[in-house]
Amino acid sequence: MKTFYITTPIYYVNDAPHLGHAYSTIVADTFARFHRMVGDSVLFLTGTDEHGQKVQEAAAKRGLTPQQLTDEVAPRFEETWKAIGISKHGFIRTTEPRHKRVVADLWRRIRDRHPDDLFLATYEGWYCVGCEAFYTESQLEKDDSGQWSCLVHKRPVSWVAKERSWFFRMSKYAERLLQHIETHPSFIQPENYRNEVVSFVKSGLRDLSVSRTSFDWGIDVPELDPEGHRHVIYVWMDALTNYVSELGGFAPETPEFQTYWRQAVHLIGKDILRFHAVYWPCFLMAAELPLPRTILTHGWWTIGGRKISKSIPATRVNPRELAHDLGETSSIPETGIDALRYFLLRETPLGNDGDLVYENLLERYNADLANDLGNLINRSLTMVTRFAETTPPRWVAAMAQASHGPDHDLARVAAESAADARLAWEAFQPSKALEATWRLVREANRYIDTTQPWSLAKGGQTEKLGHVLHSLLATLWWLRRMIAPALPATARTLDGWLGAGVSEDDARWPEVDTFGRDLPSLSPKAPSPLYPRVDEKRRDELLARWLPEAAVAAPAPAAPAKEAKEAKADKQAAAPAAASAPSGTDGASLTYDDFMRAELRVAQIVAAQPVPKAKKLLQLTVDVGEGRHRTVVAGIAEAYPPDQLIGRKVILVANLAPATIRGIRSEGMILAAGDDAILGLSSLDRDVPPGTRVR
Ligand code: MSP
Repeated sequence: MKTFYITTPIYYVNDAPHLGHAYSTIVADTFARFHRMVGDSVLFLTGTDEHGQKVQEAAAKRGLTPQQLTDEVAPRFEETWKAIGISKHGFIRTTEPRHKRVVADLWRRIRDRHPDDLFLATYEGWYCVGCEAFYTESQLEKDDSGQWSCLVHKRPVSWVAKERSWFFRMSKYAERLLQHIETHPSFIQPENYRNEVVSFVKSGLRDLSVSRTSFDWGIDVPELDPEGHRHVIYVWMDALTNYVSELGGFAPETPEFQTYWRQAVHLIGKDILRFHAVYWPCFLMAAELPLPRTILTHGWWTIGGRKISKSIPATRVNPRELAHDLGETSSIPETGIDALRYFLLRETPLGNDGDLVYENLLERYNADLANDLGNLINRSLTMVTRFAETTPPRWVAAMAQASHGPDHDLARVAAESAADARLAWEAFQPSKALEATWRLVREANRYIDTTQPWSLAKGGQTEKLGHVLHSLLATLWWLRRMIAPALPATARTLDGWLGAGVSEDDARWPEVDTFGRDLPSLSPKAPSPLYPRVDEKRRDELLARWLPEAAVAAPAPAAPAKEAKEAKADKQAAAPAAASAPSGTDGASLTYDDFMRAELRVAQIVAAQPVPKAKKLLQLTVDVGEGRHRTVVAGIAEAYPPDQLIGRKVILVANLAPATIRGIRSEGMILAAGDDAILGLSSLDRDVPPGTRVR
């Protein structure tokens, strides 16, 4: 039996799961599903990266210990993966003892085999906490204020003053690494990323600082330095080892390591290529261990052209919410997850960057899912069940063997599309695989248009009709399996409607020359709307929900003076909505849809401080759920001392266009009653978690 081991990056717990993380996990999931369908023994791993300076700082900011933060956030990743239907996988946390043991073991293996590969020296230099990496100035850029800043995070890097640390002799492995890359063309994929790594290695590898003494949130180096100091292992050396911890360690006698390690495919985002394609293989070579099979790199998603960023709420796309919205009108709401998966997988080839433009998402939904796939399933099953009593589907060999015509075309396209899609899945090209699959979807719709089963029924051509219905079932039976890696909920539903009774574990990829002849016993049922078309009204509704800034923001004046803008924003903060006007001023009533465009959510105040030189204003930090925080400037300073506010839960208008108030970016407005003097803050009479929607 062939084996396949697919891993995602392990996610930092300083952030809640967002669309970028979901993309890595969804892509890995489709590969795991495909390989199970071709009969491989599959291991699929994801998890959380819980050590390091970044996590320690994020915890301190929230007044938590790093362990408290990780215990709070790690389950959110697991919950998200469950909610978006990620298939059976392992989940590793780097704070688990089983992982710590393997990291210490890696260190010892290197020391035992090549004692000089780990040596003590003094380090000073630029460090990007976002990347958890040291950089030379040639790897950085100067920002507008002349500070060195990181190319990935676009934020100033910090200077690490002289620190004694253990170094790894990476320079020693440059030649061997280049050789490995050359003799294993599939080691780094896609090809452009291989070229990037080759030129990086050729430009010279520097020895790497792999321990720290200036902070302690990590795994201890399993030896004290000669001066008796304790060091913490560099977070990347720690994190990369997770891929082996899941297998129970490196020991040759560990069966899972033996079975899976050489087949490991590390799926990663392009930002972390160097760590996986340079550092990790060098560590493994020093420990005299085999290298994984492939480092598979995907591009980055932006949201409407903007980088996913904590400070831009509109880019913080929650994959669960988006999937929910997409499936809301379907008879099978879980197909919303499939709609999201389909878009992400189909829209852009794996290594390229992608941009989530909501209009494009809906267009693709309508064209490929509503018009093509949904329509095919609906028409086929409706006809099969409608004609079932008089015309049971049946295989007519003579028609199936025709050398031309619709039956011939359908069988040919089925065979070609299954073969092409299989090759594309094997080559890690989801977009191509789906394109090939849709060739069959479209051909089958054409087949219906050409054969016109309803006319055959009318004209009493029962033999031909029976054969056409059989061909349609044969197509659905193939598609049920061909769409399964990417659209698992749809495949499950289709299986139920066909009455095939094949579980996810038992479904196998179609054998190319069996089209029409490989049907199990089926008992088809009438379908219900799977991917209802998004009409204009629904489209506007969804876009308003997804693009609140565009929908709610007042039209900007042509060239607003800074003062005028700030004065307006001050007013916005100083006069909470409920305080502004008596009810029903203009007699016009608010429609339900208009009201629903305001995204009201429960928010918990976690920090509050006066705004300098503004006696009415307080700067609040509010928790809006899933570990996300926002800054809100509120005009409540005269009514509430800051320390009375901590811990209170209030109602936040979460999709109000952000405004800069006294130089502070305010992302939302909290609701309160009354004016500045007699002011009552909104509250809830039960303990509702932050982030809950208020309607
Ligand atoms: N903890 C490290 C990985 C250690 S692996 C041994 C890390 N974590 S992360 O949470 O910051 O990011 C993990 C991965 O999330 C990225 O490499 C990438 O795969 C994915 N993405 C995060 N943002 C993304 C986009 N905007 N678009 C696509 N994927 C991105 O790095």
